[in-house]
Amino acid sequence: MSDTVLEARNLTCTFMISAGAFRGRRPLHAVNGVDLTVARGEVLALVGESGCGKTTLAKIFLGLQEPSGGTVRLNGQPLSALARLDRARFVQPIFQDPYSSLNPRKTIGEIIALPLRVQGAPNPASWRSQVEDIMALVGLRPQLHDSYPNQLSGGQRQRVAIARALINKPGLVICDEPTSALDVSVQSQILNLLQDLRRDLNLTYIVISHNLAVVEHIATRVAVMYLGRIVEEADTETLFARPRHPYTAALLESVLTPDPSLGIPNTQLGATFPNPVDPPSGCAFHPRCRRATAVCAERAPRPVSLTDGTVACHLYD
Ligand SMILES: Nc1ncnc2c1ncn2[C@@H]1O[C@H](COP(=O)(O)OP(=O)(O)OP(=O)(O)O)[C@@H](O)[C@H]1O
Ligand code: SF4
Ligand SMILES: [Mg+2]
Repeated sequence: MSDTVLEARNLTCTFMISAGAFRGRRPLHAVNGVDLTVARGEVLALVGESGCGKTTLAKIFLGLQEPSGGTVRLNGQPLSALARLDRARFVQPIFQDPYSSLNPRKTIGEIIALPLRVQGAPNPASWRSQVEDIMALVGLRPQLHDSYPNQLSGGQRQRVAIARALINKPGLVICDEPTSALDVSVQSQILNLLQDLRRDLNLTYIVISHNLAVVEHIATRVAVMYLGRIVEEADTETLFARPRHPYTAALLESVLTPDPSLGIPNTQLGATFPNPVDPPSGCAFHPRCRRATAVCAERAPRPVSLTDGTVACHLYD
C-alpha cells in the first residue's frame, strides 16, 4: 500500500463567468496551480478566506468537479482513470449541512446502508449488523435505526452522515466545514468523534475549516490558500508558532479576536478581498500586504521548500 494517499500536481480549475452586461465572459481561476501531497494518517487542513478555492479543490478530489488542468492521483492511481464506484470506495465526503444530504424519506438504517447497496457489498445478510456496528462507533443509539432524519438533532444527523461516509472504510475522508452548521456545544463532540474514528479506523482526513481553533485542534498539517494558490504549508505546530507568509500571520492574528468561532475577519488585512476575476498582478496578496515591496506587484513568488514546509513569498526567495 502506498504511503501517499493523494497527490495533486499543478492542478487548475477555471470557471468562465459573466463579467456583466455587454462585457462577455471572463475566466475565474478558482484553483490556480496547486501541488499537494497527503500522506496516510495525516489530517491536512485547508484554510483561507471565503472564495479562495477550498471547496473547489475538495470537489476535484471527490470527482465532483472536473479540473481544467493538472493531475490527481489517489492511492497512486490517476483519479481520471478510476471508475465512479472505485473512487467512492476510496474517498468520501462529510459536508457542512448534514440535513440537506440526508434523504428525508429514508430511515437512518437505510441511509447508512446505501453505500453498501450501491457498491454491491458482499453478504447482504450482514449489512444490518454492519450498520449497527458503525452506528455504535459514531455514537448513535440502535433505537434510531428506524427513525427519520427530521426526528434527529443536528449533531445526530452529522453522526449519520459520518457513519454513511465510513461504512465502506474509505482511505480518505474529506470534511468541508464539518461542524460549522452545528451548535457550539455540539461542535467539539463531533470533532472529538472524528479524531477517535481516525485513530480507530486508520483514516486520513482533509479538513476544510474557517475556524482556526478547530484547525489547531485537529490538523497535523496546514495548507493556507489565497486566491486559488497554496501560499504556505507546514506542520500545524510550526505554522501556528512561526507563520512565515504575511497572509498566514494576518490570519492567525484574527484568531486573537474574542470569539474564534466568528471565523476569519478581514479587518486586519486592510484592503478588502480582491475580485477573483481581476486578481492583482504579481503576488496576489500585495495590495493587502504590510511587507510588500516593488517586486511584489511585478512578479509572482514561487513556492520555496524549507526544512519544515513551503512558502510562496518574495521574502523567502
Ligand atoms: N460552479 C462555479 N461557477 C463559477 N464560479 C465558481 C463555481 N464554483 C466556485 N466558483 C468560484 O470559485 C471561487 C472559489 O470558490 P470555492 O467555493 O471553492 O471557495 P471556498 O474557499 O470554498 O469558499 P467558502 O469558504 O466560502 O466556502 C469563488 O470565487 C467562487 O465564486
Ligand atoms: S510576496 Fe510580497 S506581497 Fe506577497 S506576501 Fe510576500 S511580501 Fe507580501
Ligand atoms: Mg467552501
